[in-house]
Amino acid sequence: MTLSVPPRLAALPILGNALDFARDSTALLRRGYEQYGRVFAIQLGGKPAAVLIGPELHAQFFELTDKNLSMREAYQFLVPMFGEMLFAAPTQEEYLEQRRVMSPILSGRKMAGYIRQMDREITDWIAAQGASGTFDLNDFTQHITMYTAARCFMGDEFRERMGDEFARLYREIARGIDFLLPPHLPLPKFIARDRAKARLRVLVDELIAHRRGRSADYDDFIQELVDARLDDGQPMPPEMITNAIIGFMFAGYETTSAHLTWALIRLLQHPTFTAKVIAQVDEVLDGVETFSTAELRALETLQWTLMEIERLDPAAGMLMRYVREGFDAGGYHIPAGWLAMVSPAVAHRLPELFANPDSFDPERFSPERAEHKQHPFALIGFGGGLHKCWGMSFATNEMVVILARLFQAFELSLGEQEIVIDRGQQIRRPRSPFPIHYRRR
Ligand code: HEM
Repeated sequence: MTLSVPPRLAALPILGNALDFARDSTALLRRGYEQYGRVFAIQLGGKPAAVLIGPELHAQFFELTDKNLSMREAYQFLVPMFGEMLFAAPTQEEYLEQRRVMSPILSGRKMAGYIRQMDREITDWIAAQGASGTFDLNDFTQHITMYTAARCFMGDEFRERMGDEFARLYREIARGIDFLLPPHLPLPKFIARDRAKARLRVLVDELIAHRRGRSADYDDFIQELVDARLDDGQPMPPEMITNAIIGFMFAGYETTSAHLTWALIRLLQHPTFTAKVIAQVDEVLDGVETFSTAELRALETLQWTLMEIERLDPAAGMLMRYVREGFDAGGYHIPAGWLAMVSPAVAHRLPELFANPDSFDPERFSPERAEHKQHPFALIGFGGGLHKCWGMSFATNEMVVILARLFQAFELSLGEQEIVIDRGQQIRRPRSPFPIHYRRR
């Protein structure tokens, strides 16, 4: 029996649902779910897209990725930014080679060194603040994640000397992301992107020249990339190393800073739970000079908080693929040439999976309750399957270190401001100014 295509949400002629999708994709997908259930379609300009909601369908989506479903076509707009790397690798063979060479950089073996660097960055930031005052939440989370990345990726010397230039260049490159326009039109933002990439390449080339043969002296991402060997036994070409740095920044910078932003907001809105966090921080960090994985593991209230933010405020509200070969899902046929997507932002609020799904309740992740363990694909804020995020532990450790040091040093509070979402951002975050008040403890 041939199945029919999924029911389609009402849409405008030509544009389809593109405007609503650009304005607030989660609200649009939630509306689709409420109207039609777990499988439905929206129209993005000329392209129909099937939306798959719920853990069984997530499992199918991740299982079909790189088979019927392609990331490369869905993420083509990233090629001008960091070349044919990671999700945009031209073949699965090349992807697997990149994965073999680069994913160990984020492995547990390297983590102890990164944790020390994360700790140094936030401790220096705290030392530079006064006895009391305010800081802007978005400025803080973007600053701390950018400079932590610069330190962990490129090393302490680079962070101290070139950190500001690195931050400026990366932002210039990221401003050139465009989902619609041909990427090489002579527009100012594309020219600026290419100029910034060329300058970053010069900085990375200098660093590579300095690092060859010095693996014993350094413990950062770039040293691992310099020492790595491709399948043919050759080192990674400098252009590939620059692209890897930009690719990791794209995957890890805005995502981590938005996640941290929501973690601080939700904690400061929930003082009863936050009192437990502070008590645990004080106990675990008592007399601890340097953070290690032992302290990170012991700070479980912060670990649960970050899982609750992954659930309630996922930085990637939806994940997209191009349908290379048609397939059946949830009683419908999804034809070749469509897009397919899953939505962590909608699926994480299914009441069958999570009790009182709209409430902030980090203890749902405690071993006694473990609501997320009902299905391996219930919680998908870091993706799933072969392409699951390589930086999940790195990002989680970084955020735990930052939050723990902040609560150890300061009493923090939110002002009276209302939270207005900044619709101009690629990743959902509140509009600035968003002051946080602090006073040294
Ligand atoms: C809170 C922070 C982060 C979130 C929410 C996040 C989320 C995700 C998600 C959802 C995916 C899968 C995308 C898809 O299937 O379409 C992904 C992939 C990836 N992430 Fe993260 N990420 C975070 C931080 C990081 C960091 C810090 C790094 C690196 C330093 C990183 C590196 C990667 C890479 C390399 C991939 C691609 C994996 C592959 O294609 O095999 N991420 N991330």
